[in-house]
Amino acid sequence: MSKQQNIIVWLIGICIMFIVMVAPSVVFAQQEKVNSSYGPTNQTETFDQIKAERMAVKNARAKEHMELLSSRYDLSKKTSTDILMSGGKPIPVGPTAKLIGVTWEQLNKMTPEQIKEKGLFPYKPLPFADHREGGMLFPEMITKSLPRLVRFDLDFDLPEWILPDPVPAIYLTTRPDLGDVAKGRLITINNYYEIFNGILNPKQLEGLRLLVTQFPQQQFNATEDRRTDRPDGMLGVTCFDCHANGNTNGANHLVGDIRPQEFRHRIETPSLRGVNIQRLFGSQRALKTVEDFTEFEQRAAYFDGDQCMASKKGINILERGSQVHFMAEFLALLDFPPASKLNIYGKLDQKRATPSELRGEALFNGKAQCASCHPAPYYTDNSMHDLKAERFYKQELANWMMMAHDGPIKTFPLRGIKDTPPYMHDGRCFTLEDIVEYFNLVQQLDLKSEEKKDLVAFLRQL
Ligand code: HEC
Ligand code: HEC
Repeated sequence: MSKQQNIIVWLIGICIMFIVMVAPSVVFAQQEKVNSSYGPTNQTETFDQIKAERMAVKNARAKEHMELLSSRYDLSKKTSTDILMSGGKPIPVGPTAKLIGVTWEQLNKMTPEQIKEKGLFPYKPLPFADHREGGMLFPEMITKSLPRLVRFDLDFDLPEWILPDPVPAIYLTTRPDLGDVAKGRLITINNYYEIFNGILNPKQLEGLRLLVTQFPQQQFNATEDRRTDRPDGMLGVTCFDCHANGNTNGANHLVGDIRPQEFRHRIETPSLRGVNIQRLFGSQRALKTVEDFTEFEQRAAYFDGDQCMASKKGINILERGSQVHFMAEFLALLDFPPASKLNIYGKLDQKRATPSELRGEALFNGKAQCASCHPAPYYTDNSMHDLKAERFYKQELANWMMMAHDGPIKTFPLRGIKDTPPYMHDGRCFTLEDIVEYFNLVQQLDLKSEEKKDLVAFLRQL
C-alpha cells in the first residue's frame, strides 16, 4: 500500500470509530428527558429551594385553575334548607354547570357526536387544583380546625357550600339506638377515647385510634420534599383527615395508579359509610376487601403508588392481623344515615313520600333505568361500569390534564347521597341536579324538566 492509501484506510477507520462510539451518545443526548414512573428519591435540592420553586408558580396556576372552574361552573351560592344533610348543613342546589349558547333542552336533542364536535359537553373530567403537582389537598373548613393540614403551595379550589358537612354525623350498625354518636364533634386523637370508650369493644377502639393517628405521606412528612411548613404537619395525615367522622369532607387527591401525570384522575374522598355492604373498593382498582383497601391506602395511595418514595418518607407498615383488621372492623360499623321515608326493602314508603318523590322513584326504576346499576336497598350493584362519557368530548389537554376516557368506575351506592357532594369519582357534578343532567345526557334519556325535578326529589330521600 502506498502512503496515500494508508492515510485513507486510517481516515476510514477513524470515521467508523466515531460513528460507533460517539454518534450514539450525541443522538441520545438529543432525546427528550425520560418520562419516568418514579419520583425523585435522590433529591439534591433543599426544602427552601423546592419551596421557592413551588411558590414561584403558585399564583399563576391557581388563577389558571379558577378560570377553568368559572368557565365550566356557576359558582354563586345556591342551597336548600328543605332537606338538610344529616349533620345539619343545607344541601347545594344546581345545576351549576354552565352551558355555552345552548339550553339543556337543546343539548338533550343533540347526538354525542354533535356535542363532541361543538365542544358543548358540560361535565368533562375535572382537573386537580394544580394537576402538574397533585397530592392531598384539604378544604379550608378543615384546615381551620386542623392547621397542620395546610399546604404552603396550594389552596383548596371548591367553595364550601358544595362540600359535605365539616363535622358529619356518625351512625353505628351495632348501636342504631344511639343515633348520631358524633353530636357535632370532629373525632380526632384528642377525643376519640372519651367518646367511644364503653360503646366499642377494645379491638374496635384500637382500630379507631389508628384511624385518627398521623402517619407520613407524600406531602406531609419530614423530608425536604414536603409541602408543609408546620412541624405537626411533618408527622403525616390521618385517615379521618379526609374521611371525616367516617364520611368525607371533600378533600381530594390524584389517583396513584395511572401514569403519566396528565392522565391521572382527580379523586374526591368517598364516604366510608356502608362499606360493610360493599364488595369493591376504590374507583378503579376494585380491591376486594376493606382490609385490603386500608392496607393499600397507607402503603401505596399515600405515596402515589411509589414504593421507593414510601421507604424514603417513612412508610408505616401496618400489621395485618392486629392493626389492619382492627381498623377495618371499625370501618365496617359505619352505617348509612337513617332515611325515614324508606321501608325495609329500601324503597319509598307510599304513605310517607310526596307525589313528586314517588314519581321520581318510578322514573329511577323505569324510564331513566338508574336502577339497572343502582338497585335498592343500597342503590349499588357492587360492580363497575364504563359510562363512556368520552363519546361527548375530544381528547385534549385542559390545564395540563388530559380529557381522556374514565374507563370502568365503581357504582358508588346512593344511600345517604345528599350528604356527600360533590359527586362522581372526580367531583365533576357539584349537585344532584348536575347528576341528573349528566345521566340524562350520557344515557340519552331526553327527560322533561318536571321529570328531572322528580328524580332529584327522590335522590334527596335516599
Ligand atoms: C386524601 C385524603 C385521604 C386520606 C388521608 C385517606 N383516604 Fe381513603 N380514600 C380517599 C380517596 C380519594 C379514595 C377513593 C380512591 C379511588 O377513587 O380509587 C379513598 C378510598 C378509600 C376506601 C375505599 C372506599 C370505597 O368506597 O371504595 C377505603 C376503605 C379507604 N379509603 C380507607 C382509608 C383508610 C383506612 C385511610 C387511612 C389509612 C384512608 N382511607 C386515608 C381519600 C383519603
Ligand atoms: C350503566 C350503569 C349506571 C346507570 C344506568 C346509572 N348509573 Fe349512576 N353511577 C354509575 C357509575 C359507574 C357511577 C360512578 C361514576 C364516576 O364516579 O365517574 C355512578 C355515579 C352516580 C352518582 C354519584 C355517586 C357518588 O357518590 O358520587 C349518582 C348520584 C348517580 N350515579 C345517580 C344515578 C342516577 C340518578 C341514574 C339514572 C338517571 C344513574 N345514576 C344511572 C353507574 C350507573
